[in-house]
Amino acid sequence: MRIAVLGGTGEIGEGFALHWAEKHHIRIGSRKVDKAEAAAERFNETLAIFGRKGDIQGFDNRTAAEEADVIILTIPYEHVSGVIDFVRPVLSDQNIVSPVVPMTRGEYFEYNTPARGSAAQEIQAMLPEGMNVVAAFHTVASRRLCSLDPAFQCDVMICGDDRRSKEVIIDLTNEIECLRPLDVGPLALASTIESLTPLLLNIAVLNHLKDPSIKVL
Ligand SMILES: NC(=O)c1ccc[n+]([C@@H]2O[C@H](COP(=O)([O-])OP(=O)(O)OC[C@H]3O[C@@H](n4cnc5c(N)ncnc54)[C@H](OP(=O)(O)O)[C@@H]3O)[C@@H](O)[C@H]2O)c1
Repeated sequence: MRIAVLGGTGEIGEGFALHWAEKHHIRIGSRKVDKAEAAAERFNETLAIFGRKGDIQGFDNRTAAEEADVIILTIPYEHVSGVIDFVRPVLSDQNIVSPVVPMTRGEYFEYNTPARGSAAQEIQAMLPEGMNVVAAFHTVASRRLCSLDPAFQCDVMICGDDRRSKEVIIDLTNEIECLRPLDVGPLALASTIESLTPLLLNIAVLNHLKDPSIKVL
């Protein structure tokens, strides 16, 4: 598949690129092509250090999205609508994945409930009719994902309304050996998984834990 990682120059985008690049064509998207190309080159070099071979290329966000089968929105919540507006002309039948968490940091990290209930539902409302959002990966810490450490094992809670789209993302999650996909229900429940991220970050700060993630026992 062709997987577009929009905002893939950032923290968690790298993790997806490194894990999926051996089996898929990874299209790193950015507001700036040269930044995306530099990131893609860096990620290919990292793969080579681990003795892996990958196919990672850099593009502007719209070009990355245009040819993709799957688009993952690795963009901070406050900037997602701008990126969707920019790529909208090329959106048609791609599977859209949202790991996006709307939260703020004051004394503690807090989940900021969007008007439609969750970031995933907000994103769904921005898309052309017929496209489906799958919410996933909110509780996977980027540093652990990027480490390619096989000892790291965690669960990925996944919400979505369209069975076929959800299965595509469940299969992609299964391809990352450290992750186990768990179906959590429809998109209407996405706030339940998005709000776990501020919980994890508060646990990290208050208990001096580094990059906590979630495993259901
Ligand atoms: N980091 C984690 O551990 C983690 C875990 C689970 C979920 N998430 C979620 O995943 C998403 C990405 O997180 P991240 O930590 O990877 O974010 P990040 O590194 O802060 O940013 C990702 C990318 O967003 C793009 N961006 C920044 N400002 C923008 C703007 N004004 N307009 C358009 N694009 C902009 C940048 O790409 P360009 O400059 O190249 O355009 C940047 O590299 C967030 O929604 C977060 O809640 C993160």
